[in-house]
Amino acid sequence: MCGIIGYVGARDAVQVLLNGLRRLEYRGYDSAGICISSAEKLHIARSVGKVSALESGPVLKKLYGTVGIAHTRWATHGEPTQENAHPHADCKGEFAIVHNGIIENYAELKQMLIEKGHVFRSETDSEVVAHLIEEFYDGSFEKAVRNAVSLVAGAFGIVAAHRGENKLIAVRKSSPIVIGIGNNEMFVASDPAAIVEYTRKVVYLGDGELAVITPLGYTVKKMSGEKVNKHVDNISFSLSHIEKKGFKHFMLKEIFEQPESVGNVMRGRLKGSEIKLSINVDTRAVRRVILVACGTSWHAALIGKQYIEKYAKIPCEADYASEFRYRDLPLSKDDLVVAISQSGETADTLGAALKAKSHGAKTIGIINVVGSAISREVDGGIYLHAGPEVGVASTKAFTSQVVALFLLALYIRLQNGGLVPEDAISELKQLPAKIDSILDNAGQIQRIASEIKSASSILYLGRGINYPVALEGALKLKEVSYIHAEGYPAGEMKHGPIALVEEGFPVVFIATKDSNYEKVLANISEIRARKGRVIVVADVPGVALEGMADFIIEVPRTIPDLSPILNVIPLQMLAYYTADLKGLDVDKPRNLAKSVTVE
Ligand code: G6P
Repeated sequence: MCGIIGYVGARDAVQVLLNGLRRLEYRGYDSAGICISSAEKLHIARSVGKVSALESGPVLKKLYGTVGIAHTRWATHGEPTQENAHPHADCKGEFAIVHNGIIENYAELKQMLIEKGHVFRSETDSEVVAHLIEEFYDGSFEKAVRNAVSLVAGAFGIVAAHRGENKLIAVRKSSPIVIGIGNNEMFVASDPAAIVEYTRKVVYLGDGELAVITPLGYTVKKMSGEKVNKHVDNISFSLSHIEKKGFKHFMLKEIFEQPESVGNVMRGRLKGSEIKLSINVDTRAVRRVILVACGTSWHAALIGKQYIEKYAKIPCEADYASEFRYRDLPLSKDDLVVAISQSGETADTLGAALKAKSHGAKTIGIINVVGSAISREVDGGIYLHAGPEVGVASTKAFTSQVVALFLLALYIRLQNGGLVPEDAISELKQLPAKIDSILDNAGQIQRIASEIKSASSILYLGRGINYPVALEGALKLKEVSYIHAEGYPAGEMKHGPIALVEEGFPVVFIATKDSNYEKVLANISEIRARKGRVIVVADVPGVALEGMADFIIEVPRTIPDLSPILNVIPLQMLAYYTADLKGLDVDKPRNLAKSVTVE
């Protein structure tokens, strides 16, 4: 949510910042802006919409300098207008800031600053920071930033520039900041993807740390001013991982990466009939598991709940992180709270993990982004190793999360003296090849997409372990194609959604040959009887289904518990191809952002 980047060195900063913004754009694309600092003045260019609009604007062409900051915005306070676009400057144009996060007490700070004579030009919460720095400046840029942020409540990653100084100052509280180390040049960003083109040597700022960054190096300090020695990390992915590699969109590329990403989450974790996880938590004493997540990750949690109950035999809840964090739920050291998040940054999931920790519960993360905020806060966890996910609609992270949850359930079962069911490991190992065979079916799914692209509403139905797949299929479609879609437990359909069904109304069923199969067939008949248009994802497309469905998408068979990992793939493809046929910007759906770092 909002991307920020800064550069100090000898290169043309405008180009470095624009390249970075393009790679950060998935975090927000309501507006973009850039500030180049020179001895004479801060030159700011901002525009509404995507980075391409900023790039083609007249002001940018005239800009040149070697130090600057830039931002791509997902609007929270104030509409996506040019005035509300970052960078924001103080009254005299001496300081400029870019900000990711939310300043909770901005209204009081703004009032206080207005009373002191400051003039505000935007409706954003962020602008107060520039004026606070101005207010505190008495010759030391660093001291002014320190004093300014000491008054700010909320979550933020901020980078500030000062006219005439070859220096940037970055501060972090909750929202991520990474410093990139180059040769006589330094980078700073909200996400390593923005700088991997230039350097793989990075330092992640910790919470409450401030960095002074010049072309020759960086100094990290606590808010008290005490110096902190930082570990230099290596970015684990390369530029090629965040490029489209010939695919039309990142979403399509990421769907097609799933044979590999599903393989990666298992790698080194299956040893004979053992499950090897270094989760750093003794699960033997756990009496209850609570899975917390948002969006697609929450759908993985719903599947995980069934794994934990069945295999680990421990009561399990799956809760929206935004609900969990404000529930009065008694928690204790006997609880294991699992935060599931692709980005590791989602504000509510982070808040839920922190709440669990403060109540003495054990916490682990199932996270894709290494070193992210949640991964730092939890006691231990499982990294997905799915590689960067750039498409705003999550795809490969979901299938990896489901596999990770399956491994976790088996791991807890083993810890408690149980055995891993014989077929579980061999079926896990076959998943990548089976996913590959589904991807070969793109032609059929494109044809179905062309049939549904004009629908105004679509129902997705499944039962048991595939009910969350119905939710995920519907979420994918509405996210990228803007067609209203609703996922429902097939058995509940008669209690409401069936009222929507009339001739030609599309209904997508997940009909896996498990203990619910006959009941799903009965539900299909009920839709058929009302002349609905039936699309079925089935692993046994035999005679029972013939004549009942308009389209049957066949997926390979696996054990029913792993079937969600295969069943979701055609639904991701259906959403993608439908949106693409409608000519929509699949990777940047309107109003959405990849990482939601606000509540
Ligand atoms: C946003 C994204 C979704 C994602 C959700 C949770 O809404 O657009 O694709 O599922 O956040 O993100 P997380 O990174 O915590 O999994």
